[in-house]
Amino acid sequence: MNLYERIPNNVNLSEDKKLQRALEKWLPNYLDWWNEMGPDGFQQKDVYLRTAISVEPDGWANFDFVKMPDYRWGIFLKPAEADAKIGFGDNYGQPVYQEVPGEFRNALRRIIVTQGDTEPASVEQQRELGKTCPSLYDLRNLFQVNVEEGRHLWAMVYLLQRYFGRDGRDEADALLERRSGNPDKPRILEAFNQPCDDWLNFFCFTMFTDRDGKYQLSALAESGFEPLARTCQFMLTEEAHHMFVGDTGINRVVKRTAQLMNQGDVRQLGGIPLDIIQRYINFWFSYSLDLFGGEISSNSADFFAAGLKGRYKEQDQYDDHLAADQIFTMKIVEDNQIKDSEVPLRNALNEVLRTEYVKDCEKGLARWNKSLADEELVARTSVGGEHRLKSMPRLFLPNSRFHRHVGEYAGHNFDLEGNLISQEDFEKRKGEWLPSVADREYVRSLMHPVIEPGKIANWIAPPATGIKGKPFEFEYVRL
Ligand SMILES: [Fe+2]
Ligand SMILES: [Fe+2]
Repeated sequence: MNLYERIPNNVNLSEDKKLQRALEKWLPNYLDWWNEMGPDGFQQKDVYLRTAISVEPDGWANFDFVKMPDYRWGIFLKPAEADAKIGFGDNYGQPVYQEVPGEFRNALRRIIVTQGDTEPASVEQQRELGKTCPSLYDLRNLFQVNVEEGRHLWAMVYLLQRYFGRDGRDEADALLERRSGNPDKPRILEAFNQPCDDWLNFFCFTMFTDRDGKYQLSALAESGFEPLARTCQFMLTEEAHHMFVGDTGINRVVKRTAQLMNQGDVRQLGGIPLDIIQRYINFWFSYSLDLFGGEISSNSADFFAAGLKGRYKEQDQYDDHLAADQIFTMKIVEDNQIKDSEVPLRNALNEVLRTEYVKDCEKGLARWNKSLADEELVARTSVGGEHRLKSMPRLFLPNSRFHRHVGEYAGHNFDLEGNLISQEDFEKRKGEWLPSVADREYVRSLMHPVIEPGKIANWIAPPATGIKGKPFEFEYVRL
């Protein structure tokens, strides 16, 4: 591990002068981008951050106070396995690719650019959030997510510059030029152009949109293109914390809302009503489903055949790594009706991955509903509480067909249960299902910074534990 080089890395950068020069040329542009588009107003503050100093299980998370621009962005790949073999597809069992297979060069570059584009995009989306943090603990978590997304950009840029020559260098530059939500030069994927300007959005984003990242990275972590696989494996360790921030963040909002429901009217008490939380879930879940791509996809078949992009836990979950003759049955819309359609499995792999993702999201919903049930119990057993709430509503995921902009269901309208409805009906009921301008304004009206150590905003419960054994009261950011 060359940690104290200008670009910390474990890829022997100093032995590849051409690559080193290219990355050192990119570095100041990256820092300019970070200073212009990274967290606004906090760049010179000391933040209690986790920094990767080794990719080994016991050493990759080193905690200390750091100013964000001094964070050790670097290039870390999980160590290579000897004699690694391609784990699926037509070349199953053959040695992994150390260079890009020529026929897949464009497709692979596209995958890496698309993944890479999401990393700076999310930093841009979240750039104003620090100013309205509900606590120093949350502020620190926001910045941890931000610096790691910055490092993930480095990971993708390393692949582009090392394996794709001039095209790769151009793409690396373009990654710093696009801007989230900018109509003239938008980010590639739509979820990454959506505003993320309040903390409920942030928690939904890290719960649902970062979780898409987990599934994309997992599918690539077993890629036959070995440098990509090793890059993604290490990124996944960091992504776990981002999803933790989202999952526990929503859980804390839900818990607080339930406590306020026990006391009276949530709005009057300054909390976020459950129906608004549900609409935010509907919004971010549906946009995140789009990120998996079309339900029926010849690209997914080609990538699988080539051994480049597999299924979730391909080695652990499946015995048949060829998936050549199997059929997958899915719902499609035909003649204005929902019908079953049989698709060759390899063409349905986006949907297979999406199904895994939905299962994972369901677990989050179960945790949040458990919090509602716990608070309901508190209401029932407390004196004077029983008359208020016999049962609280539960949160749920909308059907996967609801509010889609990509794939089989785009261009049709569905209700939350996935029933086909007319555009007119959708427009009429949209306000029940998706955040309205008034919802967003209301949530924003609650967002006032709480920056005293140990204090927390009224609309969210404190976390169960702090970071790295520190208490919640710890001064995670020195303002
Ligand atoms: Fe990331
Ligand atoms: Fe992330």
